[in-house]
Amino acid sequence: MHLLPTTRHEIGLLWRARPGMAGLLLAGQGLARLPGPAIRKVPGIGWVTGDPVVAREVLKDHRSFTMVGEGGVGDLWAQILGEWVRDLFDGPGHHDLRTRARDLFTERTAGALVAGTWGPTLRDAGERLAAGEPVDVAHTSRVLVGRMMIELLGIPAPDGPQSGRPGDAVAPGAGPDAPPWGDGVVVPSGAAPSGPVRSWPDDDGALAAFRTGERLAKLALGTEGSTTLPPEKIAEAKLITDELTAGVPYAFRTAPPSRLLGRARELGLTLEEATGLASLLMVAGTETSASAMMRTTALLADTGEQHRLLAALGAQESRPGAAGSPAGAAPGPHPPSDGPWDAVVREGLRVTSPASVIGRGVSADVEIGGARLRTGDRIMLLVWSANAAAGPFRIDREYVRETRQLWFGAGRHLCLGAALAKAEVAALLRTLWTTPDGAPAGPLRVVRREASREVIVPGYEKLVVSR
Ligand code: HEM
Repeated sequence: MHLLPTTRHEIGLLWRARPGMAGLLLAGQGLARLPGPAIRKVPGIGWVTGDPVVAREVLKDHRSFTMVGEGGVGDLWAQILGEWVRDLFDGPGHHDLRTRARDLFTERTAGALVAGTWGPTLRDAGERLAAGEPVDVAHTSRVLVGRMMIELLGIPAPDGPQSGRPGDAVAPGAGPDAPPWGDGVVVPSGAAPSGPVRSWPDDDGALAAFRTGERLAKLALGTEGSTTLPPEKIAEAKLITDELTAGVPYAFRTAPPSRLLGRARELGLTLEEATGLASLLMVAGTETSASAMMRTTALLADTGEQHRLLAALGAQESRPGAAGSPAGAAPGPHPPSDGPWDAVVREGLRVTSPASVIGRGVSADVEIGGARLRTGDRIMLLVWSANAAAGPFRIDREYVRETRQLWFGAGRHLCLGAALAKAEVAALLRTLWTTPDGAPAGPLRVVRREASREVIVPGYEKLVVSR
């Protein structure tokens, strides 16, 4: 048995993010490896479990547990966005939405989206590393994820109508009815691109979008004991969601069905609901993805597993007839089983588990994990602990059946953006560890790092790597 479940840097990140939560996660991880009750009551928090099997059981039991009751994230959203959230997030409306949104992010569409939206930024990072320059992977991850959200949600340029080079913001797959400047750009009706051409989104805008989402997520700090928000937090959250979703009405009206908001319109969602969904995506899919990207990078360097990765890439390349797959130049749609990358991304997600806990309210009395839970109780699933208990970061780890993909949840709320998140992590790692023509590049070293403090999702403020 290993004394530490992961690297000391990873534990430092958990600690700097939320010291109390770090203690709970580490305790949960220790308990998950010892015999004893799978579920316990913690004063001030309620029921907790770090057992992957019990956690999955809770997530799949929709009759006894709810995400929109006290203890669930949907309860926070209902206070910020309105009561309709309860139906869309957990009622019949949710089933309807999930059924029709099933193919929104498939492996193929996710790969195309990443290639179209991130190509130039990744290429630039790859070139800087190749030239011997340092790259701050934490900053790059935030910019990339910010760009993705601007693209998905149609966040407008801060200073009015803009036009990138035609096609700049258009991801492959945008339908023929997509405006030439991409439906990620909001142009007031009737306005056509004119005057000086400026590319949108740019890095500053992407970073600003990311930081705004982060501010919104931060409002959930301190809700470990109760998900009832004080009025001032609700007011602040409403202001932030308004800011984040200012561009949604235009994109909702004009985006083709192949795009997120176009799909939302086709599904019959109201503008209010589409706006809420957009806010949810912003919170669910930004910090989590950026965290997995930068932390997996650090793990590969810190554990030395990057050497195993480079060896696997070398072996793959020297196989007769095997063409290297392009990295930064075209982090495009890749076949599902693509050399070592699937396993590396899976292991990175397991060990980092960016959504470290999932909360649920108990909606009907239930016996689970040997305990009797009563209606109105709350339960916190220690996802990080459950996943970390399987052992430290090893890219050749066999598939772990108990945890499966618990980092994306389970049951009917299983992460809607899982394919996109995996494509995002893979695209960054490819850029860092392969040359543009897909050959293994040299190992990286971390030259500077700084953990983010007081955040919901642990991550690096800075993670500077160099070849
Ligand atoms: C590494 C990155 C990510 C991780 C670890 C992650 C994790 C999760 C988890 C654990 C849940 C379930 C929450 C619960 O049951 O209460 C979830 C739900 C969700 N995620 Fe992700 N997520 C990631 C990226 C994304 C991305 C990129 C998007 C979209 C752009 C996204 C969209 C969503 C949505 C919409 C839900 C709610 C689904 C529902 O309630 O039916 N996520 N995610």
